[in-house]
Amino acid sequence: MRLVIALLLILLGAVGAVLLDRGLFEEQLSSRPQAPGAEQPAPAKRTAANQPSPETPRPAVDTPAARPPHPPRTPMERPNGTFTHDECVTCHRKRQPGLMDQWDASEHARRDVTCVDCHGANHDAIFAVEGLVATAQCAKCHEKETYEFLASPHARARDAALANGRLKAQIPAMQRRGCLACHDSGGGSQGRCNACHGAHRHSAADARRPEACGTCHMGPDHPHLEAWESSLHGVAYGATHDTRQAPTCVTCHMDGGSHHVGFGITIGSSGSGGVLEGEQPAIPMKVITAAHAKNERKRMLAICERCHTPRMARRALEDADAIKREVDRLVGEAARIVRALYDDVLLDPMPKERPAHPTAGHTLVLGGGALYENHSDAERIFFDLAKFGHSITFKAAYHQSADWTHWLGMARLKADLEELKALDRRTRKAAAIAAAASKTKPGK
Ligand code: HEC
Ligand code: HEC
Ligand code: HEC
Ligand code: HEC
Ligand code: HEC
Ligand code: HEC
Ligand code: HEC
Ligand code: HEC
Repeated sequence: MRLVIALLLILLGAVGAVLLDRGLFEEQLSSRPQAPGAEQPAPAKRTAANQPSPETPRPAVDTPAARPPHPPRTPMERPNGTFTHDECVTCHRKRQPGLMDQWDASEHARRDVTCVDCHGANHDAIFAVEGLVATAQCAKCHEKETYEFLASPHARARDAALANGRLKAQIPAMQRRGCLACHDSGGGSQGRCNACHGAHRHSAADARRPEACGTCHMGPDHPHLEAWESSLHGVAYGATHDTRQAPTCVTCHMDGGSHHVGFGITIGSSGSGGVLEGEQPAIPMKVITAAHAKNERKRMLAICERCHTPRMARRALEDADAIKREVDRLVGEAARIVRALYDDVLLDPMPKERPAHPTAGHTLVLGGGALYENHSDAERIFFDLAKFGHSITFKAAYHQSADWTHWLGMARLKADLEELKALDRRTRKAAAIAAAASKTKPGK
């Protein structure tokens, strides 16, 4: 009997040790930062002590070979009527096994949030809305997040795009794929919380990654991801993967998990940014009160001050404010040139000689909804200058990226301004010569 108990204890010990080992392994794996491009710490020198023994179970590696292949998919008519959660799962596991893997990995699956909770039970109704899930469905269980989200600039993004002339100038498929894919992160009844969370993983950790913001916040008019990555903040985060030491988008813009991304924003807002009340912007900009600016700046500085002194952080943001005002001034200078050409009927072609602008008809549009087509040379240069140079410069300045602020921003803006001035001189010279020629024409 004693022998049996002793044997059992030894066996239990061995199993325990193996389990403990695996637990440690997995803990190491899961605590390891996941962002791509992350520098992995240098591997520890191999010593006899830290060499895995042959018996140590290997941590699971997710290679295609390690898992059974997805079963072949057979064509199928769409079913009609209502179904239970278990029926949805059984059928869709055969149809979209990858989607079901995402759901299996989610907090929702663990907490018994069912297909029906989000999609409803009626398959015909699901088809009628093309599988979309309204924010109102999420609100049933996530009131706080939905409320904050709906009050945020993200929820107005859809309407901002729908009202914009540039959207109206596109075919419907381009409106959907080339505008609304980024601008339908919220608003209306079909908001897309999944823009950041993934439709079936619905993971908070996925959304915290700067890449989740970068699907939209990138490119030549708002290179936030690129600017952040190339700033000391991005680099420090790449080294530490610790938001207590180095900030990501979410550290500064979603403090405490708030979904209100308007937090801490002053004149450096989206689009062409803003101006203080009383100032006259050359192109459409948001107008904010001095009191609002002061209050929001205080909130943003409170975040900086977790890592920097108030003086250091304030200097950085005040420099960015000064850069914003300077690019606003340069845009003003450029706008005056284009407006004067318009007033003197020297744009070629003039707005009345070309197809009507979708919202402004045959009038001159600068900034905001200006098109990148159906316009004159002068307006084309202005488009680049305002949409790219102006935006990049101030947005990169608020995100501490030196190269984007100067060489990819300011240098581009100023070169465009010089090109515009040269075009203006050429146009006016040619007009003067033409006027003189018509005066000296015989018979005049
Ligand atoms: C927490 C809410 C939620 C739950 C739970 C949920 N879904 Fe979804 N589902 C969504 C959202 C959001 C979308 C994306 C809609 C869109 O296109 O924006 C979606 C899309 C889909 C699509 C179309 C996806 C594609 O890419 O083609 C299928 C199929 C689907 N869901 C099936 C299911 C099934 C089956 C279940 C149950 C296992 C389920 N869903 C559970 C929210 C949910
Ligand atoms: C008997 C099989 C079956 C059952 C049960 C079933 N579905 Fe489907 N579902 C389909 C098929 C087939 C499609 C069309 C796409 C395809 O071929 O896979 C589809 C499409 C969808 C779509 C995408 C619609 C679109 O326009 O892209 C969603 C969302 C969806 N199902 C959710 C559900 C939910 C939720 C349930 C349970 C209430 C459910 N399905 C039950 C077979 C099924
Ligand atoms: C029937 C209730 C229910 C519905 C509907 C629902 N959720 Fe959840 N959700 C939960 C519960 C429960 C949890 C786990 C506890 C928590 O974090 O609040 C959760 C967790 C989450 C998380 C955090 C997951 C993590 O990584 O910790 C996200 C993000 C989320 N839900 C998003 C959504 C979105 C977006 C929708 C709508 C498309 C939605 N949920 C619909 C109940 C629901
Ligand atoms: C702009 C990207 C973005 C969008 C859009 C978004 N979320 Fe989130 N969400 C996040 C981030 C980032 C976090 C993690 C915040 C943190 O903990 O620091 C998060 C966390 C959550 C959580 C977990 C909260 C907790 O305390 O565990 C829930 C629930 C949630 N979101 C629901 C929603 C719902 C519902 C919507 C749509 C109304 C939505 N989210 C839209 C980025 C987003
Ligand atoms: C699906 C596309 C999309 C994703 C993903 C996205 N955003 Fe946005 N974001 C937008 C659009 C579009 C606007 C402009 C809204 C407007 O002003 O009309 C915006 C505006 C903003 C603003 C400016 C607010 C202001 O007051 O001017 C901030 C800050 C912001 N987003 C932060 C984030 C962060 C942080 C993430 C990631 C957690 C994120 N966004 C993810 C599309 C997106
Ligand atoms: C160290 C803090 C910090 C980090 C990290 C950060 N931002 Fe910002 N962000 C700011 C400040 C400060 C402003 C301008 C505030 C103002 O108007 O006074 C701003 C402004 C914005 C705006 C409005 C337009 C603009 O650029 O001025 C958007 C959109 C935005 N940030 C998105 C992002 C995204 C996406 C990321 C991650 C890739 C990110 N931010 C990372 C601090 C930060
Ligand atoms: C790659 C994603 C993406 C695409 C594509 C995109 N946008 Fe945006 N847009 C954004 C983001 C992100 C912002 C906010 C950040 C910023 O401006 O600093 C924004 C800002 C705007 C604003 C300014 C909002 C405000 O409140 O001032 C307008 C208007 C706009 N976009 C219209 C459009 C239109 C129209 C299209 C298609 C012709 C389009 N966008 C295509 C991501 C996108
Ligand atoms: C979570 C910590 C953290 C937060 C929050 C933070 N920073 Fe930083 N910041 C760093 C780190 C780390 C560096 C890298 C250089 C260093 O260690 O000084 C840095 C560098 C900088 C630099 C460049 C300094 C130089 O020597 O060139 C500026 C400017 C800056 N931060 C401004 C800000 C502003 C403004 C805010 C708030 C909007 C802010 N930071 C928020 C951690 C932070």
